[in-house]
Amino acid sequence: MPPLHYVVLGANGQLGSDLCPRLPGRVTPLTRGQLDLTHATAAREVLRDLKPDVVVNCAAYNFVDRAEGEPELAFAVNAHGVHRLAMACEDLGATLVYFSSDYVFGLDAERRTPYGESDAPGPLSVYGSSKLAGENAVRGLCRKHYIFRTCGLYGASGSGGKGTNFVETMLRLAAQGKAIRVVNDQMCTPSATVDVAGAAVQLLQEAPAGLYHVTNGGATTWYDFARAIFELAGVRANLTPTTSAEYGAAAQRPAYSVLRSEHAGTPVLRPWREALAAYLAARRGGSD
Ligand SMILES: NC(=O)c1ccc[n+]([C@@H]2O[C@H](COP(=O)([O-])OP(=O)(O)OC[C@H]3O[C@@H](n4cnc5c(N)ncnc54)[C@H](OP(=O)(O)O)[C@@H]3O)[C@@H](O)[C@H]2O)c1
Repeated sequence: MPPLHYVVLGANGQLGSDLCPRLPGRVTPLTRGQLDLTHATAAREVLRDLKPDVVVNCAAYNFVDRAEGEPELAFAVNAHGVHRLAMACEDLGATLVYFSSDYVFGLDAERRTPYGESDAPGPLSVYGSSKLAGENAVRGLCRKHYIFRTCGLYGASGSGGKGTNFVETMLRLAAQGKAIRVVNDQMCTPSATVDVAGAAVQLLQEAPAGLYHVTNGGATTWYDFARAIFELAGVRANLTPTTSAEYGAAAQRPAYSVLRSEHAGTPVLRPWREALAAYLAARRGGSD
C-alpha cells in the first residue's frame, strides 16, 4: 500500500505546524494563499488536483471577540468554507479531519463536570456557533470524518512571527511591566499543540471515524494558568484576578468547558501543567 497523502489546511498555524511533521505519510501543507476557505470554488479545484486521501483542516477564524462584530466572516471560514470542504472530500472519497472547540459548550451555566462527546453542545458566542456549524457540515456531508474538539491551544508557531497565544501574551505583558488582569471564573484545560497533534495522529491511525475530545489533563482557570506561566518561567508579573463581568470581553465564554473523552481508545495526555513546563523549557532552548 502506498503511503497516505495528507493535505493540511492552515499548515502554518499553531496546530498545523506541529501536526504536519507527525503525519505518517506524504504531506502537502497548504496556507491561506494556496487554499482560501472563503473562496467559492478553491477547495474543490485545489483538492481535485491534489487527490488527497485525507484532508486535515487546521485553518479557522479564531478571533473570538472580534467574531461578535463580524459574524459573516467567522461563518464564512468556519462554517461555509468547511461545508464546501466537506462536499469536496465526499466527492473525492477522502477523509476529512476537523478541529473544533470547547466553545461549542457553555449554554448550561450551572455545569461543573467535564463534557463528554455525547453531551449536547450549546454555544454562547458567534465563534462557538460557527465552529458548531462547521462540525455539523462535516458530520452531515462527509461520511469519512474525524472531529477533534480541543481547548486553549498554545504552540511554538504562536511564539513568533505574526501568531500569538495566551502564554506568549502573558509573557509579553509581563516583560512590558504592564498590570495584567485575568479572569478567574472560566475553567477549562489549556492544551499544548504538540500533545493534541500527537493524539490526533494516533486516533487517525487506530480509532474509527467520529467525534473525540482531546485536551491535556486536569483543569484550571485562566488566572491560575497565568500564575503557573509566570511561576514556571521564573517571571515576576503584576497579575490580579478578575471576573468575566468586570473584564467585559465582547464574546461570552463558558464558565466551565472542561472536556473528557468517553472513548476508551482516546489517548490520555499529560497534565496541563506538565505540558506548559515543557513548552516553556523548549522556548528557553531547553529540552522537554
Ligand atoms: N487556538 C485555540 O485556543 C483553539 C482552541 C480550541 C480549538 N481550536 C481550533 O483548533 C484549530 C487550530 O487552531 P490554531 O490555534 O492552530 O489556529 P491558528 O494558529 O490561528 O491558525 C489558523 C490558521 O488558519 C488559517 N486561516 C485563517 N483563515 C483562513 C482562510 N479563510 N482560509 C484558509 N486558511 C485560513 C490561518 O492562516 P493565516 O495565518 O494566513 O491567516 C492560520 O494559519 C482551529 O480549528 C481552531 O478553531 C483552537
